[in-house]
Amino acid sequence: MIVAVLKETTSGENRVAATPKTVKELIKNGLTVRVQSGAGESSYYSDQDYIDGGAVVTPDASSTLNGSDIIIKVAPATLEEMNSIPDESIYISLFQTARELDLVNKLSDKKVTGFSMHLIPRTSLAQSMDALSSQANVSGYKSVLIGASHLSVYMPLLMTAAGTIPPAKVLILGAGVAGLQAIATAKRLGSQVEAFDVRPEVKEQVESLGAKFVEVENQDEEGIGEGGYAKETSDDYKRRQQELIKKHISKSDLVITTALIPGRPAPLLIPTDMVNGMNPGSVIIDLAAENGGNCELTKSGEIVNHNGVIIDGQLNLPSTMSTHASQLYAKNISTFVTYIVNEGQLNLDLEDEIISGAMFTHKGEITNKATREAASNS
Ligand code: NAI
Repeated sequence: MIVAVLKETTSGENRVAATPKTVKELIKNGLTVRVQSGAGESSYYSDQDYIDGGAVVTPDASSTLNGSDIIIKVAPATLEEMNSIPDESIYISLFQTARELDLVNKLSDKKVTGFSMHLIPRTSLAQSMDALSSQANVSGYKSVLIGASHLSVYMPLLMTAAGTIPPAKVLILGAGVAGLQAIATAKRLGSQVEAFDVRPEVKEQVESLGAKFVEVENQDEEGIGEGGYAKETSDDYKRRQQELIKKHISKSDLVITTALIPGRPAPLLIPTDMVNGMNPGSVIIDLAAENGGNCELTKSGEIVNHNGVIIDGQLNLPSTMSTHASQLYAKNISTFVTYIVNEGQLNLDLEDEIISGAMFTHKGEITNKATREAASNS
């Protein structure tokens, strides 16, 4: 079976779905690997590195895809690329399937078996395939570095002959994978960190990283949804949460927001009046920008200055750290491919939780429930 590794064409996408090391792993599992020339360039892997890893380097997308069995990518293929994907092949990439219905329908029409790395279940067994976590980790880390570079103040406490500098105050909204990494990074830089989440169980994790957990009183089980994710909260809870965030945000130099609810737009946590209460020179990094943003003033993909408060809605932070983001993503992909292949032959157990969980199209059907519902409502 032939695995095809395409060069990413989405603007700003510097990652690649396989590294020379994961090429070796795939070959060891009985697969042949084709890599489109230049696929690894933006992650600093040369064609020669892939050849040394045992891959065949092909000149363009069509020669890479022609006759291939498993297509691996980072961003979803464009409609044009979809046209060249062989019928009945296996397709794997990051993919918000309930939002990209044209592409889903295209794959379904071609009877392609589509897997989205977004849909890999968050279970212990699937941890090494969990691309959402590996990439959110990168985002959390980078968000603090970007935030610190926007700031006009130091992050750590400094005692100098010219006076004492207090540590910067950092507030993290949403303490999932990205938020926890942001806490750890902001602490390493010496700032004072507070964090808030609707899931009370993260309190211990936040505190173990040395940050203060900001709690809505009588929180109970309000924000706990299915599968360990958050769910939409009641209006009363939202009001109390807003009051609390408003109090803490007005004192913060840097705010990093990461709050997401699966299958829903990102919750609005920072309305304009809250931004108006922030000090000029303070900064918001909105990691939820791709899903509508946690701040009302966030513009997806842009940096906005609102009365001296910078609101950064840059997208795809993992791509700005392409070498390590690719290394981790490629490992997630190669582990998944190895999971669905046995000694070079496809071994699709449709009863398997990871395989059925990650699958969204198969034999001309949309197999993922949320995607099917979105398709029928569109
Ligand atoms: P996510 O990206 O879906 O959301 C980020 C954070 O925002 C979450 O912590 C969520 O509770 C929080 N949030 C949502 N609405 C909010 C609101 N209104 N206000 C404040 N915060 C809000 O979450 P992520 O990082 O993908 O993690 C989701 C879950 O999966 C977590 O429980 C995590 O611990 C779990 N997980 C489990 C893994 C495993 O067992 N293999 C691996 C990775 C994550």
